[in-house]
Amino acid sequence: MPKVRFEPHGVEIEVPAGTTLLAAADQAAREVEAEFFIGECCEGRLECGNCCLEILQGAENLSPPSPDELALLAVVAKGKPGEKAWRSSCQALVHGDVVAKVLAY
Ligand code: FES
Repeated sequence: MPKVRFEPHGVEIEVPAGTTLLAAADQAAREVEAEFFIGECCEGRLECGNCCLEILQGAENLSPPSPDELALLAVVAKGKPGEKAWRSSCQALVHGDVVAKVLAY
């Protein structure tokens, strides 16, 4: 199964291929009893952008972004570090090993 690591916590989990990155983040947060700052207000309808994460490694192991996701990312990630490596975690399906960055609080 693909491994997904979330930084800066360094927590790594395995998920079935096809899991959304958002579901993986929820699972990882539960496993370490940490709070990951990932908003989820539109339930995957590509309306809020609160679920967007920077992908540090393995972007090629995620499903490709749709035109609608790219349009959202152009707004949400603009000017942020790693601007070109951001994905909407509710849309990105994990097909191989990935490292993503979440905000911690
Ligand atoms: S949950 Fe709103 S864009 Fe992903």
